[in-house]
Amino acid sequence: MATDLDKTFNESVEKLSMAADTAALETWYRETLGKKGSITLLARQIGKLPAEDRPQFGQQLNQVKKNLQEAFERRETAVKTAELEAKLAGDAIDVTMPGRTRLRGGLHIITKTMRDIYRIFGDMGFQIYRSPDVETDKYNFELLNFPPHHPARDMQDSFYTTTPDVILRTHTSGGQIRAMHEYYPEPVRVIVPGMCYRNEQITARSEIQFTQVEGLVVGHHITFADLKGTLTEFAHRMYGPQRQTRFRASYFPFTEPSAEMDVSCFLCDGDGCQVCKYTGWLEILGCGMVHPNVLRNGGYDPQIYFGFAFGIGPERIAMLKYGIDDIRQFWSNDLRFLRQF
Ligand code: PHE
Repeated sequence: MATDLDKTFNESVEKLSMAADTAALETWYRETLGKKGSITLLARQIGKLPAEDRPQFGQQLNQVKKNLQEAFERRETAVKTAELEAKLAGDAIDVTMPGRTRLRGGLHIITKTMRDIYRIFGDMGFQIYRSPDVETDKYNFELLNFPPHHPARDMQDSFYTTTPDVILRTHTSGGQIRAMHEYYPEPVRVIVPGMCYRNEQITARSEIQFTQVEGLVVGHHITFADLKGTLTEFAHRMYGPQRQTRFRASYFPFTEPSAEMDVSCFLCDGDGCQVCKYTGWLEILGCGMVHPNVLRNGGYDPQIYFGFAFGIGPERIAMLKYGIDDIRQFWSNDLRFLRQF
């Protein structure tokens, strides 16, 4: 029986060394030191031994039990530590892993360009005045000195509504009259931004909807010099202080005299290139001294008050500034285009 004990002891120690997890340890314990474990079974057979051998066997047995119990505890500590370490390693967060990028929205290039324009005129004391997109023929044309059947109306073919004389505004100039009606008899210094609509063939150069920023200044001593100074300062702030400006005579029914302002081409510096069509100049806005009829229609006496007005096309400003060659890009909602700005 002493040999059986040795054998069982050796086998148990070997099995214990192979128990790699808590479950295996439990099984080992049950099969070895448990109620029906191999050692317990051996202990029960003590009665079969001759009486004189029993004390010695009993001692051996207790020693074996004690050794196995200790071996078990050591193994258990080792296995639990290993299990804990594995768990920690598995749950670890890799703080060096790059995060998921979030898609961020951004402002449309025209919104940004409009804001650049607001900032420049804001610094010069202009306020933003809002005028409606849906306008009457009276404000869009008549009060701006376009009588019915005036040929200048042909330049701004309109979208009509089913209500007679209600149209989508073809320019922001109607805001001039509305601002004057609101501010009279105070002096006026406003810009009127917003969307305009024209029944046009859509091409790389023309769209049926586009933005404008109107400007209007009315006061007692307003001269053409104020117009030139204000708009030249705008061009310098928008395109750089080294740009030159030039004013060319033009025609609008609501200004007299009227002009178009060009800036020297910032791509070729005036030498001539594709963008400026080899003229060295880029046209950026229309302007003029407010026509006496328009001042009168706004409620201001043209004997006492003078004013100047201008109209800027932000799409054109942006196309020139960023080298965009097709106006249709702005409203095509192509993210590949929009993301560039
Ligand atoms: N309203 C004119 C246009 O749409 C631009 C303009 C505004 C010209 C103000 C002179 C003064 O073309």
